[in-house]
Amino acid sequence: MGSLRNFLSAVAVAVAVSAQDVETNSARLPSPPKPEPIDIFELPLPPVAPSRDEGACTPAINPRRTGCIGIETLEFQAGSFTTDGNHVVVTVELIGAPAAPDPASIYKGEQLLLIKADGKTFPNGDTWKCLSCGVPADQARSLDPERDYPHVFRSGKNVLWGHNILDCGGADLASTECTPDRTHIYPIHWPNTADGSGRGGIPREMRLHPDDVHMGWSSFTSTGGQFCYFGRLQFNPNPSVGEPRAPRFDLVNVNLLNPSDEKRGAPIFAEDGELRINRDAITVGELRGFSGAGDEILYLGSPWEANNIDVLAVHVVTGAVRRLTSHPDYTDPLAYSPDNKWFVVMDTRVSERQMFMSGMRWLPPLVDIVAVTAASSTRNNHERRFFQPILIDQYGDRGDYFGQQVNAGGDSSNGAVNDPNWNGRADPAFSHDGTKITYWQALVVPKACGDPNPLPCPNSTAQGGRTYRVMVAHLTSRKKSKPAKVFKVPDFIPWAQPFPAGSPVPASHYSLPPGNYTVRGRVSGGADVTLLEDPAIPGRLRTVSVAYQGFVDEPGYVINGHEEVSVDILLPDVWNNMVHWYSDIVQTGAVQASKKTSPDGFHLLIHAVTNVFQANGTLTTTIDGVEYHQPANGT
Ligand SMILES: *[C@@H]1O[C@H](CO)[C@@H](O)[C@H](O)[C@H]1NC(C)=O
Ligand SMILES: *[C@@H]1O[C@H](CO)[C@@H](O)[C@H](O)[C@H]1NC(C)=O
Ligand SMILES: *[C@@H]1O[C@H](CO)[C@@H](O)[C@H](O)[C@H]1NC(C)=O
Repeated sequence: MGSLRNFLSAVAVAVAVSAQDVETNSARLPSPPKPEPIDIFELPLPPVAPSRDEGACTPAINPRRTGCIGIETLEFQAGSFTTDGNHVVVTVELIGAPAAPDPASIYKGEQLLLIKADGKTFPNGDTWKCLSCGVPADQARSLDPERDYPHVFRSGKNVLWGHNILDCGGADLASTECTPDRTHIYPIHWPNTADGSGRGGIPREMRLHPDDVHMGWSSFTSTGGQFCYFGRLQFNPNPSVGEPRAPRFDLVNVNLLNPSDEKRGAPIFAEDGELRINRDAITVGELRGFSGAGDEILYLGSPWEANNIDVLAVHVVTGAVRRLTSHPDYTDPLAYSPDNKWFVVMDTRVSERQMFMSGMRWLPPLVDIVAVTAASSTRNNHERRFFQPILIDQYGDRGDYFGQQVNAGGDSSNGAVNDPNWNGRADPAFSHDGTKITYWQALVVPKACGDPNPLPCPNSTAQGGRTYRVMVAHLTSRKKSKPAKVFKVPDFIPWAQPFPAGSPVPASHYSLPPGNYTVRGRVSGGADVTLLEDPAIPGRLRTVSVAYQGFVDEPGYVINGHEEVSVDILLPDVWNNMVHWYSDIVQTGAVQASKKTSPDGFHLLIHAVTNVFQANGTLTTTIDGVEYHQPANGT
């Protein structure tokens, strides 16, 4: 049961859930920027083939015979710009190629493309160029199957392609000098045994530091926990141990980014009968990248406010934690501008999907001890994300500044740039000169639309009926900026733990013992909290019950009332949660707000992987007379 318990607590931390006092800080931060003009255009992709069948990518569809893509998203992912801002790197699955020895047979399978972002074409007339197609087999040995988050190095010479690095021998990637014969692709290897043997660790969510030599990543433990790491890329031309035994990049000087000291690492800890909510904690739940200067690590962290999932940043040397987003809705993928002055996040705030549970500000993150998985699982409906790109200055959300929706222009009609049925995916990116943002979107598809879902499936307006598209937002009033000087990161981060190959992975994140506690408001008042163990899974907390008495975390936001959430894990499926929720909370002062469930409570069945909302009863948040309701079942 020990491992299962760890698994469960880790799931909670992994999918979720800490930074700075926005309201009180806003006084010290520069005033927010005004909205700016933004033009949006869509980038061309290879033509769509009607099927995956051999030869389905006919000369009629692609006369130059350089590949076709599918209607469905498949393995598609768009990444960052080349240095000149004229191209974007994307991972596609090319389908319908003829059989070998037809020269067109190389345009097949998961490949890395540059697509034109300047309205021009490559010399052959195509608006794209395949960087990975036709690379001789001995120059691309034992590649890692993971090809996500394609990203051009700051130098512009190499591309991070999932867990591989593409190198064009120093040639400009877009130039005619960058040919398959000149190209090498190397897998990335994380040695994780002291003798270097075996296939190594399994990283995920890999992101490159702007110095082009360090990487950050997340990794599940064998028991399902998730921890995050930072290390240096070291080319190993002729490895003598470990698999693959092919030229590769080894991850060396690895750091574990989750501090072992409870006061540095735990979002909430118990001390003398009190629960202390620890905003200084470094709670790297899932790593999301780096600031533009590379001085901060960006991550999904433990919430600072109830049911409100945000991105945080921690300084690589000082360990100072800042909260980048605070809007009650859910935030996840993000990218910083190379000049370090802006970031763009994918966030559900335009849809206000999560407001019914997260809308009340400055409610402390107590029910989250059990409810964080549910809070982050309700953000999607099946494969549908509700993300739109939001442009925020380097200081983050503050006061009543919540950034600017990048794609707000448009008439919301089918296929418009702000059509709510087209939703943002990971990762967005800025151009090097800071004047453009690229992001990609996927169209809602069954089961998130069409019977029995009340939302009719829209007809795609993209070429070939494709259900994904790559967009560029031009920040037309901006002058070009220079990338910030890249921060010299030490190989060993002072607040992290060195994690040499063979180090034991920590068993689990911190856990709180069941019991009765008090919590003090940062300003005044307090709350009584009861944490109850799960009778079905010893060691796991099932219930959090909180009674607020004039609780104030943020000046002017006075909280009274009661909230209790119990979460059952529907074993054997550890991802399936049954949530029983009772809220009757009133907030007075700066706002008149309430968070209330229907008399018999709100009962939510939610699966953390399939994300289908099924509830009886209601949970409603009301702010100054505006009511926020839960989504309808199945939507
Ligand atoms: C999609 O196109 C089909 C065929 O023209 C049409 O019957 C259907 O109503 C369209 N769907 C929507 C949501 O407009
Ligand atoms: C918590 O308080 C309740 C009464 O409010 C009591 O029944 C229970 O035993 C207490 N639990 C612990 C662990 O002290
Ligand atoms: C809702 O109520 C129905 C009927 O009692 C029950 O079958 C179902 O399991 C309930 N669902 C949830 C999420 O509570």
